[in-house]
Amino acid sequence: MNSNTAIPITENKMKNTLSIPWLRLFVHFLGLLPMAELLYKFIVDQLTVNPIQFIEQFFGRAALNLLVVTMAVTPIVSITSLKKLSKHRRALGLYTFLYFALHFTTFAVLDYGLNFRQIYLLTIQKPFILLGTLAGLMLIALAFTSFKTWMKRLGKNWARLHKLVYVIGGLAVFHYALAVKGSLSTLSGNIVRPLIMGGLVIILLVLRIPAVKSRVISLRNRILELFSPTLKPSITK
Ligand code: HEM
Repeated sequence: MNSNTAIPITENKMKNTLSIPWLRLFVHFLGLLPMAELLYKFIVDQLTVNPIQFIEQFFGRAALNLLVVTMAVTPIVSITSLKKLSKHRRALGLYTFLYFALHFTTFAVLDYGLNFRQIYLLTIQKPFILLGTLAGLMLIALAFTSFKTWMKRLGKNWARLHKLVYVIGGLAVFHYALAVKGSLSTLSGNIVRPLIMGGLVIILLVLRIPAVKSRVISLRNRILELFSPTLKPSITK
């Protein structure tokens, strides 16, 4: 076998193994997993003594987890060259939006009985609600413009607009950190999870910096060479 052709074949194999429908199924599995977990908790009666609060917090965490998974797609594509993964970013983003919508609906309908005056007062009085609202409004803008017609209509501005995902990530992490009970100085209570999510958002942001990206890619190529010295890595970008 020609050594130059070996990696492209391996790459092709990897791409075929990861082809639709497996990848699509996996994305829907990831997106529907929180719903299945919540249904299970409902069936086995584990929604705690305050089910509304539990459901509200559960949907909030699901939205943030999926937001981070969505944000991870671009760095994973540039590191692995598995461009097919990009196709699934929109579905992941829309699942994020779905859980945010359910989080907000639980808050507005079940918790506050659609009392808009009270919701408004809460939004201006509690900084964490304000941060969540800002993140939510941006998420709505990204969800509505995630379709091809908007991509065409906005042209270059589409990519610029969708970079807002990093702002949303930052705001959502602060919203989370301020919503939970705990102290940052003593790392007590539930503060560790928002800190981990914040760390992940920062790592994903740093991986977008061109200098960091090219270093990671050259490291990947070196590792590839190390494990199969006869193969020349064909992936450069
Ligand atoms: C209009 C926008 C939003 C409103 C009004 C809102 C409201 C709330 C409220 C009231 C809580 C506290 C629940 C409680 O402990 O009783 C909360 C927590 C939370 N929210 Fe939001 N939120 C919004 C947007 C978002 C967004 C965009 C995300 C993520 C993408 C998010 C993720 C979270 C998380 C992770 C928690 C903490 C859950 C926990 O305590 O484990 N929220 N939100």
